[in-house]
Amino acid sequence: MNILLFGKTGQVGWELQRALAPLGNLVALDVHSTDYCGDFSNPEGIAETVRRIRPDVIVNAAAHTAVDKAESEVALAELLNATSVEAIAKAAAEINAWVIHYSTDYVFPGSGETPWRETDATAPLNVYGATKLAGENALKTHCAKHLIFRTSWVYAGKGNNFAKTMLRLAKERTELSVINDQYGAPTGAELLADCTAHAIRVALKDPEVAGLYHLVAGGTTTWYDYASLVFDEARKAGIELKLNKLNAVPASAYVTPAQRPGNSRMNTEKFQKNFDLLLPHWEKGVKRMLTELFTTTAI
Ligand SMILES: NC(=O)c1ccc[n+]([C@@H]2O[C@H](COP(=O)([O-])OP(=O)(O)OC[C@H]3O[C@@H](n4cnc5c(N)ncnc54)[C@H](OP(=O)(O)O)[C@@H]3O)[C@@H](O)[C@H]2O)c1
Repeated sequence: MNILLFGKTGQVGWELQRALAPLGNLVALDVHSTDYCGDFSNPEGIAETVRRIRPDVIVNAAAHTAVDKAESEVALAELLNATSVEAIAKAAAEINAWVIHYSTDYVFPGSGETPWRETDATAPLNVYGATKLAGENALKTHCAKHLIFRTSWVYAGKGNNFAKTMLRLAKERTELSVINDQYGAPTGAELLADCTAHAIRVALKDPEVAGLYHLVAGGTTTWYDYASLVFDEARKAGIELKLNKLNAVPASAYVTPAQRPGNSRMNTEKFQKNFDLLLPHWEKGVKRMLTELFTTTAI
């Protein structure tokens, strides 16, 4: 099997390079690739890459993910999150390839407390959410053989993440304020990549599973409770923190260019049932990432 991965250096793309490797012959590209175009600001180039490689499966982890920047970069966000996805979808349909794509809970308005289902009406609050929704729709319209995984609150061990930022700040300051009225489940890039690899194998045997899925770790938390867990684990590991006061504040305390949803809870029953998988509680993945962080020594 030939697999083409776009966005190989992102949080999810990096883990996909590992998780997809045993499935077949993997060509992994990013924006800087030279043998083939991996630049999503060039939809024709992306379509040409698909036609030249003729993969059986295309996995797209590239996106414009800078939620606040997208508010002032509307055209670029549309190009990366929708136009290039449409180009992939059309080129994939020509060669009968599968397309695996990621989307977001930001397609929803973030109201209420009920976990969103795949059948719920969408109404994005910001440019990022609107362009990701346009990408979903383009893929659904032009390529029947697709899997779209809507996820949220993604973190990875590689690069920066919320836990690392909190730890850095807690070493520098005695007091911190963290949002306590946005609800979601921190979801590891590792988990997303492993679930993707499994889902591809299922889809190749049973094309009926094609469609849209919500895919996040189990349980629910707030940024405040997430930060509290990070500090508790750090103290247990003997890490010295200056922090002695953690304030819970509403999202309205932080004004950002993009409005963000309060309810990012996602119902994952469809994914777990169709792919016969159990999505672990978010704390498991976060504690594992923290253990790796606390035990890593700089060379
Ligand atoms: N992060 C989250 O919390 C979250 C939540 C819900 C859904 N998602 C979705 O999950 C998927 C993976 O996200 P992620 O967390 O892995 O995001 P990420 O780490 O920001 O990765 C996105 C990748 O796209 C690349 N990219 C940017 N501009 C590009 C261009 N012109 N051409 C090609 N690639 C380009 C980025 O490269 P540079 O780093 O070099 O810019 C980066 O490697 C995306 O579809 C995202 O919308 C993410």
